[in-house]
Amino acid sequence: MRIPLGPVAVRGALGVAVAGYALVGVFSLTGHAGQARSVADGVYSAEQAQRGQQLYQAQCVACHGDKLQGLIGPMLTGEAFVSAWGGRSAAVLVDKIQNTMPLGAPGSLMRPQAIDIAAYILQGGSFKPGQTALADAALRQVTFPASRPAAAPAAGGGVALAPTANLAQLMRGVTFPNANIFFNAQLKDPGAEKPKAPVPFDYVLWGQTVYYGWQSVDQAALALQETTPLFLLPGRRCENGRPVPVGNATYQRTTQALVDLSRELYKVAQSRNHEALAGMAERLNEACDACHRIYRDVSTSGKSVSEGGVSADRCRQVP
Ligand code: HEC
Ligand code: HEC
Repeated sequence: MRIPLGPVAVRGALGVAVAGYALVGVFSLTGHAGQARSVADGVYSAEQAQRGQQLYQAQCVACHGDKLQGLIGPMLTGEAFVSAWGGRSAAVLVDKIQNTMPLGAPGSLMRPQAIDIAAYILQGGSFKPGQTALADAALRQVTFPASRPAAAPAAGGGVALAPTANLAQLMRGVTFPNANIFFNAQLKDPGAEKPKAPVPFDYVLWGQTVYYGWQSVDQAALALQETTPLFLLPGRRCENGRPVPVGNATYQRTTQALVDLSRELYKVAQSRNHEALAGMAERLNEACDACHRIYRDVSTSGKSVSEGGVSADRCRQVP
């Protein structure tokens, strides 16, 4: 029996740790009107940006590109970047850099270095330098020009449904663990007796230790069915900063196909038939792959994965 884990599991097994998006609110500037400035108001110095550029070249260029254009990580320049940061303060940008970047060695930058890099990023965004350097104390008062309309409240009440994760984070955090329950069904019978406590946390042991066996299979099918439409939520970006191709017919069709298959997965789970369940793994793998081979695992630039090729080419707008 073949276990069609494919590139999905391989990437997961590499343990690529990606820090989740910090949940940051837009700072209210009321009461500080006198100090509030836009990043366009010459808030950093040219020397500062130059120092930042050197750090950037050494530590960031591999993932964000030599022109800040984005490779594995998102672009740090251009309209898409500025609009994604609209309304947020320079403090949030510096925190993001200092606390989570470079991706593999977070916390390695000192505060002044992170601020210098932020100055370089502002320069790359065509915001002109001024006479004085950007200081830590001023970061909160300096904001990107607002551009994003506030998310509409959901029908049921005041909780707004707005994308905060990039698509890769949504896949890794939600889709991947739920799908693994089905991929593992080839090895493990969910009807088998639950091992005596304590049950170690282990994906092959269903990744679930509380809601065990068939119950966790039911939940995984329902979770896939209900969360897959989030692939189409407007406004989400891919890891490389491109907008998720939510308007593309193929992307929409393959999303719908996964929703439909999840409905079938639930039916099969309800039959409590291990053999039937194990038979679904291949189809699930194919449903993931139908979209991945077009939008994820592509390199049109001829560059390899290690050169950032595949990641930079992800999420192209293909009809
Ligand atoms: C190993 C690859 C890698 C390296 C090296 C790296 N980054 Fe990133 N960066 C990413 C990825 C992936 C994301 C998207 C995930 C996230 O936001 O955490 C990201 C996100 C960001 C963001 C948020 C952009 C946005 O629009 O949300 C900033 C700012 C950033 N990186 C700055 C830096 C800086 C500055 C450095 C160098 C000190 C750096 N990165 C080094 C991969 C990398
Ligand atoms: C409609 C298209 C689509 C479908 C269906 C889909 N994915 Fe994805 N997936 C993507 C795209 C596009 C990316 C790259 C996202 C990015 O770079 O931000 C991705 C990324 C991922 C990643 C992160 C990979 C990495 O390089 O770190 C995982 C894990 C993943 N998908 C798992 C799954 C699984 C499991 C399924 C099926 C149950 C699935 N996906 C179905 C489009 C899809």
